[in-house]
Amino acid sequence: MEPVRWWQECVFYQIYLPAFCDGNGDGRGDFIGLAQKIDYLHELGIGGIWITPFYPSPLVDNGYDISDYCAVDPRFGELDDFRRVVAACHGRGIRVVIDLVLNHVSSQHPWFVDAWNNPASRYRDYFIFTDQPNNWQSFFSGSAWMPEPDTGQFYYHKFAPQQVDLNWQNPQVEQEIYRVMDFWLAAGVDGFRFDVINFLTTDGIGADNPQSAGEQEHLYDVNQPGLMAVLRRLMAYARARGELFLIGEIGSEDLAVLRRYQAADLLDVVFNFNLGSQKTFSAAAIFAALTAMNEQQPGLPTLFFSSHDMSRMISRFGENERDTDRARAVLALQLTARGVPFIYQGEEFGLTDYRPRCLADISDVQGRTHYQTALAAGMTADEALAIALTHTRDASRAPLPWGEKDALWKDYRELIALRNHIPVLRYGAYTRLALTDACIGFSRITADEQVWVAINFGAPVRNPWQAVAGEVLYGDNAPWLGKNQFVIKRRGYGKAQ
Ligand code: GLC
Repeated sequence: MEPVRWWQECVFYQIYLPAFCDGNGDGRGDFIGLAQKIDYLHELGIGGIWITPFYPSPLVDNGYDISDYCAVDPRFGELDDFRRVVAACHGRGIRVVIDLVLNHVSSQHPWFVDAWNNPASRYRDYFIFTDQPNNWQSFFSGSAWMPEPDTGQFYYHKFAPQQVDLNWQNPQVEQEIYRVMDFWLAAGVDGFRFDVINFLTTDGIGADNPQSAGEQEHLYDVNQPGLMAVLRRLMAYARARGELFLIGEIGSEDLAVLRRYQAADLLDVVFNFNLGSQKTFSAAAIFAALTAMNEQQPGLPTLFFSSHDMSRMISRFGENERDTDRARAVLALQLTARGVPFIYQGEEFGLTDYRPRCLADISDVQGRTHYQTALAAGMTADEALAIALTHTRDASRAPLPWGEKDALWKDYRELIALRNHIPVLRYGAYTRLALTDACIGFSRITADEQVWVAINFGAPVRNPWQAVAGEVLYGDNAPWLGKNQFVIKRRGYGKAQ
């Protein structure tokens, strides 16, 4: 058996810092606020947090545009505030994973400021300049090439023009990033979440991407063949420095792509968007993703349904915005299935989407860029707004209302506690995984114990585990399971009995 890694023991919680907890009254979340909530996270049973970027930044993309890799933006606090948060988390048994953006830096980063308009700059080759741009498009819409007036060249930006791609063909870039990792490891972090890591331009600029049905197919700009070697070196460097948790954001919903990046010498886990970003609720689709992850993904999958980039789970999955029953049932699945769970801040309060209605409501750079691109393509303001509203990622970025802990919160706490206390929920392999109508039923086993779980998302069905002799840990072991009802049972065999 493979040795157990510390992160397999944890339920993770994503902290989108600007919206988490405001400690200094300026309306923006910060490290002083986060420090005040560590007891709260501990009470919830959280074993690890992932903090989104907090580095100095013009905040064009809420910190995913870093202008200094080795400091804290004053709006979020000081380096010492960060260190205090790490120490307090560790004191509570909570590990700290930070977001690292290696694909691009802010156009305000001193490297780019120096490189811009100065072909002789020693930093020029940290970026990707060309005389002849190809057809590659920005992920946020429009061309990925920005003209540079004085030189007649263009620079490459996969995201906003203010997020300039680093040139991963230049070995100096890699060396710079090793220094960045060392800096944060010295500050005590337990791992990294590597932002859009399959977008690194490791093979330079190649052929035009093909177009199909008006959409660009990202054939040559992402998942470049040379990436694997770079990634292996980066991960080896990190692993040589401690027992870290190395998480990759691979921008794809295709399991065949996702799983390529997960291996002992690559990433520990990747975000399973094939499960996590399903747009509407379907027990069959969730079941299909779980089955595929079990059969086709050699490493542990991740289990999440919300993040700062997507609509909140209740708004996407509920039959209405007050449908916490569905949310509770999905949570039961997330905390009993095989994988590493990540809970997005605020899900435990049953939060629903913030819905921008006009241009002024849109803060997200993706929404705003789509608006500008649509206008430039000759659309009317109303048409452009409609496009922007479908692409903006403001839905789950509203400040957390730190209110009462209601019934759903108590389920979060109890189900997390269950996962923390029952080893088979963390390590067990599936012995069965089946779908009957809209009821997902599975059993997981270790040498010492077994659990049986049935979660019914639809019309009443027979409880598949009613006759199993085991202790009922959660839910009701009735002969029939009604809509959004579930049951979790366990039996010990060996020493754990
Ligand atoms: C990731 C982040 C997203 C950001 C993008 C560019 O997808 O999650 O918020 O806009 O990378 O850095």
